[in-house]
Amino acid sequence: MAKTASPGLDRILTLELVRVTERAAVAAARLRGRGDEKAADQVAVDAMRSELNRLPIRGTVVIGEGERDEAPMLYIGEEVGMGEGPEVDIALDPLEGTTICAKNLPNSLAVIAIAEKGSLLYAPDVYMDKIAIGPGYPAGVIDIDAPAIENLENVARAKGVSVAEITACILDRPRHARLIEEVRSTGAAIRLIGDGDVAGVIHTTDPEETGIDIYLGIGGAPEGVLAAAALRCIGGQMQGRLQLNTDEKVARAAKMGISDPTKVYQMEEMARGDVLFAATGVTDGNLLAGVKFSRDYIQTHTIVMRSSSLTVREIKAKHQDMDKF
Ligand code: FBP
Repeated sequence: MAKTASPGLDRILTLELVRVTERAAVAAARLRGRGDEKAADQVAVDAMRSELNRLPIRGTVVIGEGERDEAPMLYIGEEVGMGEGPEVDIALDPLEGTTICAKNLPNSLAVIAIAEKGSLLYAPDVYMDKIAIGPGYPAGVIDIDAPAIENLENVARAKGVSVAEITACILDRPRHARLIEEVRSTGAAIRLIGDGDVAGVIHTTDPEETGIDIYLGIGGAPEGVLAAAALRCIGGQMQGRLQLNTDEKVARAAKMGISDPTKVYQMEEMARGDVLFAATGVTDGNLLAGVKFSRDYIQTHTIVMRSSSLTVREIKAKHQDMDKF
């Protein structure tokens, strides 16, 4: 019997996405270590937008560079693509970890996720409390409402190790002082990261390689949706709660269709249906190498994946036609 294509998005799009993040990553990488976050972000935005506009999609940016009045390009609501093909929601961050890139530190990425229309959480640009683990754990191991100690003990038990052998990834921010203290009191280790929690969450999916078992703490909500999209494609568990702690934020969220400001979102509620995700390393990282410039070519390292098949591809590309970049 002939094999039918899986429903949802066109499979070809998976590979098309690679070009989008490659272009953004190369553009940003040219400004690595130059101390200019804005410039690095701008070139990545320009590159991602022009490549996106070559895709045969009718896309709407739902997680982007900001709301329309504050971001001239790739703002929330902007329509991108060639205006033909499937209607899709797009979450993107042309340069995730602008500061990391400006300082040439590990783990800045160019990131995009595409899903069927109406499948991604329309999150305002506020903070989100997050907890995430990689694949291989039984359902219900993590609970965003439980104390960190309980989550660490449950993860350790499910992994068959002691809590002292667990490492949590947490953004190094004063708001996490209590959380850090609590995690340390269990004997677990912490990887404190300066920025880049999309990478932080993805790192939980390969503890052997990255040394990270669990992600905990508060980061950007847009990054939360992107990370949930990535985990949908690799497997794992994630929960997030928007930090809507002022009336203004509650009102902004309500405009985006969020009626319960305290709701805990499961990974599948942040990114539903068929999801495609791609990320290209800008600076060297635990899972992805950064862009390499040599005399004859530019080398990029991309991870691209799809939720409906749980296929994870890594693409190392050598681009010899450097005029294109
Ligand atoms: P940018 O790429 O926009 O600089 O975001 C970097 C980042 O570290 C995210 O990964 C994270 O979710 C967010 O900033 C945390 O926000 P804050 O720096 O305000 O704590």
